[in-house]
Amino acid sequence: MALLEILTAPDPRLLAKAHPVEKVDSGIRKLMDSLLETLYYNDGVGLASTQVGISKRIVVIDLGERNGIPFKPLLMANPELQWFSVDTQITKEGCLSVPGFYENVIRSLEVRVSYTDENNQKQLLEARGLLADCLQHEIDHLNGVLFIEHLSALKRNLILNKLRKEIRKKR
Ligand code: NI
Repeated sequence: MALLEILTAPDPRLLAKAHPVEKVDSGIRKLMDSLLETLYYNDGVGLASTQVGISKRIVVIDLGERNGIPFKPLLMANPELQWFSVDTQITKEGCLSVPGFYENVIRSLEVRVSYTDENNQKQLLEARGLLADCLQHEIDHLNGVLFIEHLSALKRNLILNKLRKEIRKKR
């Protein structure tokens, strides 16, 4: 396992569509483990491989303990939305690739997602609430879409300009 460096907006690599995983073999499992380690290190709830500059359709999610019940981390290859509800929810979202910004995003309240797990087994997951929101956010990443794309152009440009200023300061 290894800690991976997370790309931040406006890095153009975040806007690339990731390629499907053919088979979850030991190499892909190692990548999943490294993504999970990187997620924990950065205190996030979800991470997509596009965020570390790897163009493969892989997502890891861990919502942490909720109401005393531990969350079993989801290690997913080729996650795909099979169904989403017309009913929506508003969630204050953040993203490790858009550090420091939290904004309300409207997404489906419930989703059904197919994926291949860490043992190369096909799975179907039904989720609602926070997990449904997180799944939609991470699948967006694999299609090169950041959560700020769901905001108004005005808000999005304000955030991108601030992030650009931060990058210039670091140079
Ligand atoms: Ni994100």
